[in-house]
Amino acid sequence: MTEQKRLRIAIQKSGRLSDDSQALLKSCGMKINLRQQRLIAHSENMPVDLLRVRDDDIPGLVMDGVVDFGIVGENVLEEETMLRSAKNEPTDCEILKRLDFGDCRFSLAVAEEFNYTGPQCLANKRIATSYPGILKRYLDAQGVPFSTCMLAGSVEVATRAGLADAICDLVSTGATLEANGLKEVEVIYRSQAVLIKSKNKLSDEHQELLDKLLMRMQGTMEAKE
Ligand code: PRP
Ligand code: ZN
Ligand code: MG
Repeated sequence: MTEQKRLRIAIQKSGRLSDDSQALLKSCGMKINLRQQRLIAHSENMPVDLLRVRDDDIPGLVMDGVVDFGIVGENVLEEETMLRSAKNEPTDCEILKRLDFGDCRFSLAVAEEFNYTGPQCLANKRIATSYPGILKRYLDAQGVPFSTCMLAGSVEVATRAGLADAICDLVSTGATLEANGLKEVEVIYRSQAVLIKSKNKLSDEHQELLDKLLMRMQGTMEAKE
């Protein structure tokens, strides 16, 4: 492919990070027309295209250099890095900036009536999650053997549906757990949104734009403090 004239930034299409990601870019003066439900949105006033995808796809797109930047939860980045490292696939990606949104915990949760006494009581249980790598690293360190029930979504219904004994999922307000009769028993990872960059070489013009955007982001974040 020929050298691209426009920078590509991947953001979450719909979910916890979508609105804040868009707001951040807009606060940097980027005009984006997001009215149509399209995969790609062109900025009207900057040489930037926004790629709107599932958050879980963002680290891989950056690591493969398909896009130049991404805004994603640190936990998703960590999980993808572990997964790829295990397969000897490229994991090149640089965290340019920690952002001031998307704070959440990756936590173990069990049914309200479950008598939880510590990680050991999950020994040989089945745990539903979308992020098995981080979960396994944590429970391995605790010496707790377990089996996984891999679900890309609807993790919170897994215990009630009889698919698993416990779940490990992202918790932000706690509303999802509460609505499903679950209680948070162990925080195993704290995450926030980060701006990441691929190893793609930027032209001088693009580098200048990036510097400008980073400066404006800093300004926006400081103004909110
Ligand atoms: C996470 C998690 C829960 C929800 C928890 O989903 O899977 O569904 O957020 O938030 P709460 O504690 O405020 O209720 P996420 O936003 O990552 O979306 P995804 O599962 O579609 O990727
Ligand atoms: Zn997701
Ligand atoms: Mg979810």
